[in-house]
Amino acid sequence: MAEAAHPNRAEALISKYFDIKSQLQLPGACASGWVCQYSPRFCSGYKPIVSLRLDSKLPDVGTTIFSVMSGLAAQHQALNLSQGYPDFDGPEALLDRVTHYMTHGFNQYPPMIGVDSLRHAVSDKVADLYGAQVDGDTEVTISAGATEALFCAIAAVVRPGDEVIVFDPAYDSYAPVVALQGGHTIHIPLSAPDFQIDWNQVAAKVSDKTRLIIINTPHNPTGAVCGEADIAALRELAQKHNFYILADEVYEHIVFDGQAHLSMCRYPDLYERSFVVSSFGKTYHVTGWKVGYCVAPPDLSAEFRRIHQFVNFTVNTPVQLGLADFLNTHPQHHRQLPDFYQRKRDYFLGQLQGSKFTWQPSAGTYFQLLDYSALSAAQDVELAKRWTEQLKLASIPVSVFYEDRSCAPKSLLRFCFAKDDATLARAGEILCSL
Ligand SMILES: Cc1ncc(COP(=O)(O)O)c(C=O)c1O
Repeated sequence: MAEAAHPNRAEALISKYFDIKSQLQLPGACASGWVCQYSPRFCSGYKPIVSLRLDSKLPDVGTTIFSVMSGLAAQHQALNLSQGYPDFDGPEALLDRVTHYMTHGFNQYPPMIGVDSLRHAVSDKVADLYGAQVDGDTEVTISAGATEALFCAIAAVVRPGDEVIVFDPAYDSYAPVVALQGGHTIHIPLSAPDFQIDWNQVAAKVSDKTRLIIINTPHNPTGAVCGEADIAALRELAQKHNFYILADEVYEHIVFDGQAHLSMCRYPDLYERSFVVSSFGKTYHVTGWKVGYCVAPPDLSAEFRRIHQFVNFTVNTPVQLGLADFLNTHPQHHRQLPDFYQRKRDYFLGQLQGSKFTWQPSAGTYFQLLDYSALSAAQDVELAKRWTEQLKLASIPVSVFYEDRSCAPKSLLRFCFAKDDATLARAGEILCSL
């Protein structure tokens, strides 16, 4: 069919696409005879022939707030302190190793569970930092970012009707994945202002139906970290109930003020029921590579891998090999990361001295919450959008991470300080001008 014959829009690519569909005689045609079943938004004359209605499994889920705010930042050319990624590159030695492998023929499928050298580098690191001997062959699996690992871990254990405890504000990928398995999330708000877990509430909500508790430490978006009292409370509950633990530890190397990261790997009795998930993207300033891993006891790893092989099968070879070399030769990178980001946190907060914001310094992650209640009574979502458009500074509203927004603190925005000092200084200037 000639492109010009279409009554509406005549983008060459779209018309080509439709033409192929029409030859295949797939259902759905517009008045002009164009087959538009697969892209009705391109054709106002669309009339479905077969009435197939897709009932969404996630009817309440829209586009993530991170994409929304980053999109808005790009549209308004705003400084983007919303989405959690650095505006500086990964270490040169790491980029060199990946380039080396990519240009020397290491471009075919690696093993499904990840390359040997990387799995063993992870188990060495876990032994070094947390004193745990995990087997690189049976307990470490390389994943497509932490996101895939979270998916596989949840899918491995949650069955229809199971309950999963999450703490609000909760990272936004947990609840949809639980819902896809037919499970139910039980949301417990962290106690403001320091966003600690209220273990009395947890004890009250844990039951025989509780299949999984998701612990995120250091915590996005609040920057809170779990302490020994949290571990003791979790242990006590674990002695009485048969739940698994999903430990989202993607910010494991970003903990401040001399505090230790309390990985589930440190505690054999908790580790035996845990999936511990981390992300190379966060640690090496390469979030776009989307490579992470899951450490779990052999029986849990086996189940995890059963799912991983059909979600992603494996993760790209040159990046895995490059990461392995870098981990083995530059352990100082992750050891120095707390100082690197603490300096950034302090620099950013230094820029805010004299502003009308209030805050508690972030205890971990590369996020800082700022309370704007002295400046505006507006709702956080509205204000984050308004400031992106008008002040050219993007942030993330915290209330979107709550199932019940009435439990959310009223006036908190999250700012990512994984940015060059010049960007942080400019952001400080804008915020101080208010
Ligand atoms: C708490 C938390 N978990 C998981 C992820 C996903 O990590 P990745 O990019 O490695 O998939 C993020 C990314 O922002 C995060 O903040």
